[in-house]
Amino acid sequence: MSSSFMPTCISKLTNSTILLVCALLCFSFTSTEAYDPLDPNGNITIKWDIMSWTPDGYVAVVTIFNFQKYRHIQAPGWTLGWEWSKKEVIWSMTGAQATEQGDCSRFKGNVPHCCLRKPFVVDLLPGTPYNQQVANCCKGGVITSWIQDRDNAVSSFQISVGSAGTTNKTVRAPKNFTLKVPGPGYTCEKTKLVKPSQFVSPDKRRVTQAVLTWNSTCTYSQILAQQTPSCCVSLSSFYNDTIVPCPTCSCGCENNITQPGSCVMPNSPYLASVIAGPRKNSFTPLVQCTTHMCPIRIHWHVKLNYKEYWRVKISITNFNYRMNYTQWNLVAQHPNFDNLTTSFSFNYKSITPFATINDTAMLWGIKFYNDLLMQNGPSGNVQSELLFRKDMETFTFEKGWAFPRRIYFNGDNCVMPPPEAYPWLPNASPYQVISILCPAMAILVSLAFLLAYA
Ligand SMILES: *[C@@H]1O[C@H](CO)[C@@H](O)[C@H](O)[C@H]1NC(C)=O
Ligand SMILES: *[C@@H]1O[C@H](CO)[C@@H](O)[C@H](O)[C@H]1NC(C)=O
Ligand SMILES: *[C@@H]1O[C@H](CO)[C@@H](O)[C@H](O)[C@H]1NC(C)=O
Ligand SMILES: *[C@@H]1O[C@H](CO)[C@@H](O)[C@H](O)[C@H]1NC(C)=O
Ligand SMILES: *[C@@H]1O[C@H](CO)[C@@H](O)[C@H](O)[C@H]1NC(C)=O
Ligand SMILES: *[C@@H]1O[C@H](CO)[C@@H](O)[C@H](O)[C@H]1NC(C)=O
Ligand SMILES: *[C@@H]1O[C@H](CO)[C@@H](O)[C@H](O)[C@H]1NC(C)=O
Ligand SMILES: *[C@@H]1O[C@H](CO)[C@@H](O)[C@H](O)[C@H]1NC(C)=O
Ligand SMILES: *[C@@H]1O[C@H](CO)[C@@H](O)[C@H](O)[C@H]1NC(C)=O
Repeated sequence: MSSSFMPTCISKLTNSTILLVCALLCFSFTSTEAYDPLDPNGNITIKWDIMSWTPDGYVAVVTIFNFQKYRHIQAPGWTLGWEWSKKEVIWSMTGAQATEQGDCSRFKGNVPHCCLRKPFVVDLLPGTPYNQQVANCCKGGVITSWIQDRDNAVSSFQISVGSAGTTNKTVRAPKNFTLKVPGPGYTCEKTKLVKPSQFVSPDKRRVTQAVLTWNSTCTYSQILAQQTPSCCVSLSSFYNDTIVPCPTCSCGCENNITQPGSCVMPNSPYLASVIAGPRKNSFTPLVQCTTHMCPIRIHWHVKLNYKEYWRVKISITNFNYRMNYTQWNLVAQHPNFDNLTTSFSFNYKSITPFATINDTAMLWGIKFYNDLLMQNGPSGNVQSELLFRKDMETFTFEKGWAFPRRIYFNGDNCVMPPPEAYPWLPNASPYQVISILCPAMAILVSLAFLLAYA
């Protein structure tokens, strides 16, 4: 059976179907990757600079740098934890605070700010008095992404540590950093001793340096962050009336009978009470009941075809009643992004994860205009149009070419409809669903063959 099946199959293998299969494989693998293929070097680095020694310890400036192109930390902000190596205590902090003091009963007179062996620290809120601030502090733990706002992609605080060593031989680095945003997602490497940081004075005429510097690098993984996706993609085009919706159950399944409260109907009389209910401040999404159950939907509409250009409309809809997305961003991958002519009402920057391929772009809202994606409701959406210049050699409306290969919202990979569901050109021979199955079948059959006869 296998021998008669395979030749017909392989003869149908056109380049485009191979591409489609690759795309299929890519989509199914990205969600399990530990690193992000569109930002392979993205990381958050925590730098711990000891600036001076004190009678029983030291004063340090701790700085969190976000080196990720498009992933940011939004409200309610970061929580940084670590474990002391010895019996260190925190005498005082400026620009941040420990969430719990712990048991300081062994101290008489001066009481430390925190005596826990594993302290957790949060940023102070905007509006903190100036005498309690340091540079780059007090933003409520919000850190922007590197591309969106480089000046605010950093957060820092000052800490005075006691019962620590007072020389570079006796002092020990804090261990096991944890970074919560507020949920899990980041894994931090072992703290390393690095070359002491240098600081240039504002007039650039003097350089000072830290006594000692430790670094720890944290990387993000979507699997660690959450079990379910947080966004999905729907598609439509001017050449076909079909609207391809988000795949059913992309982010969960609608089930308000066995799990009441898992979603809310927009016209439900309970809506107001659920939103204002006891879990008001919870950051788990409360979504509108839809077939996809995602907090965010991205719609890609192929809108117009000109002689030399073509136009796409992108709409982002918020289905979450509990979240205003501040400084949201979108990353989209499509071969024509190497020739994006204009992006109307969104900011745009091309990202080249691999120096040779220029097919990925980051889009984000314009400050004070549409950088706030409001909670579910009439104004819970933002829109933009993209104008691409055609490259006559590759441009086509066939085989779903005009649709994106990948979409991220706020750094999370969104669920795409399966390629065989993409809108067809009218009169196009229904493009062969069988030819997508074929290579997969061929691989399976040959694997079975190998296993059976190896
Ligand atoms: C972290 O990101 C910075 C900036 O992109 C890069 O220079 C550095 O090598 C990265 N660190 C790691 C451990 O990947
Ligand atoms: C510690 O300080 C001494 C004297 O300042 C210096 O010679 C030595 O290299 C330092 N060691 C480290 C690990 O920084
Ligand atoms: C680091 O912290 C985590 C969570 O608190 C804990 O599970 C883990 O064992 C710690 N690792 C080390 C090396 O202490
Ligand atoms: C330590 O972190 C700082 C800030 O992120 C960076 O500039 C420096 O290169 C890092 N050092 C090492 C050795 O990774
Ligand atoms: C639960 O779903 C049913 C139908 O699917 C709907 O009629 C009802 O209003 C929903 N309940 C709530 C609380 O949204
Ligand atoms: C979102 O912002 C609007 C207007 O500022 C505010 O009324 C609403 O309570 C906010 N919603 C959430 C969930 O924070
Ligand atoms: C990628 O394409 C965009 C849009 O045409 C262009 O602005 C950008 O310079 C290109 N980047 C590279 C590295 O070629
Ligand atoms: C953009 O399109 C023009 C016209 O088709 C072409 O000459 C140019 O090389 C394209 N640019 C890139 C980066 O592909
Ligand atoms: C539009 O595309 C769908 C596939 O998504 C297809 O079933 C339908 O026949 C197409 N309509 C036309 C008019 O070609």
